[in-house]
Amino acid sequence: MTETNIFTQYMQKRNMIVKNKKILQSSYIPQNLPHRDDKINEIVEIIAPALGKDKPSNILIFGKTGTGKTAVMNYVGKELRKADEQQNCCFIYVNCEVVDTTYGILYNISNQIITDPSKRIPFTGWSLDKILAEMTEYIDKEDKVFIIVLDEIDRSFQKNGDDIFYYLTTINEVLQNSKVSVIGITNNVNFTEFLDQRVKSRLGEEKIIFPPYNVEQLQDILYERAKEAFDDGVLDDDVIPYCAALSAQEMGDARRALDLLRMAADFAERNGDTKITGAHVRYAKSKIELDAVSEVVKTLTLQSKIVLMSIIRNTEDGMSTMTTGDVYAKYKIICEATAQSILTQRRIAGLISELDMLGIIHARVKSFGRAGRTKEIELSTPKEIIAMIKGDELFKDLESHKSKKQTTLI
Ligand SMILES: Nc1ncnc2c1ncn2[C@@H]1O[C@H](COP(=O)(O)OP(=O)(O)O)[C@@H](O)[C@H]1O
Ligand SMILES: [Mg+2]
Repeated sequence: MTETNIFTQYMQKRNMIVKNKKILQSSYIPQNLPHRDDKINEIVEIIAPALGKDKPSNILIFGKTGTGKTAVMNYVGKELRKADEQQNCCFIYVNCEVVDTTYGILYNISNQIITDPSKRIPFTGWSLDKILAEMTEYIDKEDKVFIIVLDEIDRSFQKNGDDIFYYLTTINEVLQNSKVSVIGITNNVNFTEFLDQRVKSRLGEEKIIFPPYNVEQLQDILYERAKEAFDDGVLDDDVIPYCAALSAQEMGDARRALDLLRMAADFAERNGDTKITGAHVRYAKSKIELDAVSEVVKTLTLQSKIVLMSIIRNTEDGMSTMTTGDVYAKYKIICEATAQSILTQRRIAGLISELDMLGIIHARVKSFGRAGRTKEIELSTPKEIIAMIKGDELFKDLESHKSKKQTTLI
């Protein structure tokens, strides 16, 4: 008999219904990219001259998140390497969200080119001029056409400006043997408005736009993945249409659609279910939404947290709805108890509107006759978020104080 252990139950539950978890992850590049043939062909036509050692035009690729830009680019890169029998090209991919300084980007590009470990550029310490000179020398020595893909370029731009694009698009002026083409990818459709005019025209020699996917396209993408990831009969018929419909509402984002499917499968497995159903998708949806709200709550300022805590406390005291004045009264008590400065009621009204806009609370404008207009405020926050706020370091003393004295004053 095999011994059981604390992980046995877990091991038995997992991999019951998903053949290969990797396939559902967003980093996986499928062999088939439905509904992107036209974009793949556009890119191939532009960069194909590199195989014959001619410099392709630079390209700017635009499209909302989850429209397949990264997947398509990596796929094209893989195929280019396969087709490049004479080794005329070098395809380099850098994600500027991960490597987000000018130094980091140059370091990353250079070390993809420099194969001798002793010659590699150090992680820090060199001047940009030095690293640029070294990189240029190595590129030229190779006598190849370099296609450098900079993904998520708006991230780098926000932090570093357009120096990197300037360096990489003007490098051809000093190269004798090799050539460099740049492909920039951005989620921000208005990105070029921020660029310097010269960089803008150099970088955007060719422009390609990736439109959002519609419901049917998202379904095809999911069916394609599901074929590889699941055995027959594991998915209820309504699962994929449901994931696709939810994500089509969210701007046609294939990443969101895949996240839903992957999480639904995870929930089914953990629950010991043998089939994935719409209920698992609904659960995945609420988990994703909760994660999004938690992210927002984490970034709230101290004062906003106190305002939210005031609304939580009033609700716990039996007020299902309250006015700005009610919130302000509790707010002042909490500020005193936590030794925080007290803002004016007007400022607090502003913070209440902000919380409303973030979807953390509900505030409706109500008319109260001659007293004028006031707001009717209601807590509409998931219980997990309420627990998160109450557990905040800021309110530690407040909570213990309350339980000790059993008072509803605070
Ligand atoms: N046409 C497609 N066919 C199959 N999978 C796709 C397709 N488009 C996007 N995906 C998948 O959706 C996810 C998000 O795509 P990604 O390329 O990262 O989007 P973007 O870079 O535009 O934000 C990835 O897992 C990707 O493999
Ligand atoms: Mg991407």
